[in-house]
Amino acid sequence: MRDLSKVFLNRNLSMILKEHEVQFVFQTLKEVVPCNLIVFGMGFDTGMWHDCNEGGRTVFLENSLEWHDKINDMYSDIESYVVNYKTDLLDWENTLNDIEKLELDLPDSILDTKWDVAIVDGPVGKRFRKYLKLHGEPPGRMSSMYMAHKLLKENGVMFAHDFNRVIEKTSALKFFGEENFEGSDGYMAKFTKR
Ligand SMILES: C[S@@+](CC[C@H](N)C(=O)[O-])C[C@H]1O[C@@H](n2cnc3c(N)ncnc32)[C@H](O)[C@@H]1O
Repeated sequence: MRDLSKVFLNRNLSMILKEHEVQFVFQTLKEVVPCNLIVFGMGFDTGMWHDCNEGGRTVFLENSLEWHDKINDMYSDIESYVVNYKTDLLDWENTLNDIEKLELDLPDSILDTKWDVAIVDGPVGKRFRKYLKLHGEPPGRMSSMYMAHKLLKENGVMFAHDFNRVIEKTSALKFFGEENFEGSDGYMAKFTKR
């Protein structure tokens, strides 16, 4: 079992995730790293997830090119990709049954890997006034949840942030199934793919 306390101490303090949310993920991660870890959404936590998985493969997916480049410059040794979501938050309920929209176009090196753990904390899943003004309607996380389920190996684990929000909760329950919900700290939820 790996001790992740040093990784946590070295985290970027600007990250949005709270300590209890990170520790909730660490409880599982410390048992399975090094592993294949895929993270939807980049941020000031990107370096920390990468460091947790020393000796494994960690991939980050981000839809905002500008944000991707900024974070990528901060952590130069990470593997990350810019992706294009076809979904629209306002139409989230219909989208849950629209496989064509839910599918992400990903490189073969991602599609051909059996992922052990997925963390879904992107893309933007809420209508912020500032975001709407700059970028228009956000995509929501329906596609990330669907793809996390598709990419994970059998018994792989998905962590969904913002599980207190209706769209994140409904999407995770739909694609992973209520029976595979393993618990949450209120905001970060854990599911197993079965
Ligand atoms: C909720 S953030 C992830 C935050 C990260 N987990 C953390 O703790 O710092 C998820 C998405 O928000 C967007 N995002 C976050 N901050 C941003 C910023 N300052 N400018 C542009 N996009 C941002 C990115 O597209 C990213 O995929």
